[in-house]
Amino acid sequence: MALETNKGLAGLATSGIRRFTALANQTPGCVKLTLGEPEFDTPAPICAAVSDSLARGLTHYPPNNGMPELLEALSAYMGRHGLSYEPDELVVTCGATEALAASLMALIDPGDEVIVPTPAFGLYESIVRAVHGVVVSLDTSANGFQISDELLDGVVGERTKAIVITSPNNPTGCVYNAHTLDAVARAQERYGLFVICDDVYNRLVYSEGYERYAARHPEARELTIVVDSFSKPWAMTGWRLGWLAAAPALKAQVEKMHQYLVSSVPAFLQDAAVVALGCDVEPMRETYERRRDYVCERLGGMSLSLEHPAGAFYAFPSIGGLGIGSEEFCRRAISEAGVALVPGTCFGSEGFVRLSYCVSDEDLKVGLDRLGSFVASLKS
Ligand SMILES: Cc1ncc(COP(=O)(O)O)c(C=O)c1O
Repeated sequence: MALETNKGLAGLATSGIRRFTALANQTPGCVKLTLGEPEFDTPAPICAAVSDSLARGLTHYPPNNGMPELLEALSAYMGRHGLSYEPDELVVTCGATEALAASLMALIDPGDEVIVPTPAFGLYESIVRAVHGVVVSLDTSANGFQISDELLDGVVGERTKAIVITSPNNPTGCVYNAHTLDAVARAQERYGLFVICDDVYNRLVYSEGYERYAARHPEARELTIVVDSFSKPWAMTGWRLGWLAAAPALKAQVEKMHQYLVSSVPAFLQDAAVVALGCDVEPMRETYERRRDYVCERLGGMSLSLEHPAGAFYAFPSIGGLGIGSEEFCRRAISEAGVALVPGTCFGSEGFVRLSYCVSDEDLKVGLDRLGSFVASLKS
């Protein structure tokens, strides 16, 4: 007998990023500028801490929200970066992925609407749909990837429950300016919304003037969840370690989901996470900043227009005017030029492609040479 599975999952495609990476893998010699995964290995002192933890017998269930030493260290770390959260306002999670899933599952009833500014990382939509919520896209592409009062007023409705904001942004690399943050705060107050701040790229910023929502709008803290991760700044994607911060009443709801989803994160990784918080990530950040400058210069040389990427490790140039859609552009870039990017459609925005520059300098140069030839061939 065929039984129906969760209807919320119907029509959810597998990740477009993975799809185009798989296509590139079938093409020998293709340079992949698709994944948001640092090419660096995790710094050695962080790795060494795991052996110590195992030798000390940290093989049992840890406390659900995280070990006290890690919660203390996270609270102090957030304080050094402008956010004030007590250890008991934090939950250590299996990556930002689980933090986002637990948060959205804790907030959303069937039929509730969640505003997702697009272009956006695809995870938000998948989780909201899986819990029978409704995603309402807020298209920022004609507004320099920023949010305004007018754009928000156009999408808030009776059932709007939350908005997810991502700064620095995946896929655009843009950071939200003060106008955007203030517009979100006004909507949060006027309409009574939860704000989920996906801040996983907050340490990878290359321009002055970056502000985090929770730092600029502490008055909204009762309704705000901050999500962060070890994955990107410390090159720890494979560890699956992140955390979330929220005021006690809100955190109490999210931590229930966390308990039922994963119970806790592996005990023997948590000391290593403390070590990570004391590790200097500046050399990796500087490398990305240098590559960001190089990418902007090269894309400028191809006459592709680009909203200035001030953070993360992505550029999101427009391919408008080249006469083809982003899916066709990326398929042909792989087969005709041997370079892989991700179509804007995978992030809800046609007319753009995402390029990741968290690859080696050599790959980046070859990939951009090939992209340049491909763009020139389309223009001629
Ligand atoms: C904006 C954004 N949020 C969350 C994640 C997930 O991060 P994690 O590895 O911590 O689960 C990613 C990963 O690419 C991301 O780009």
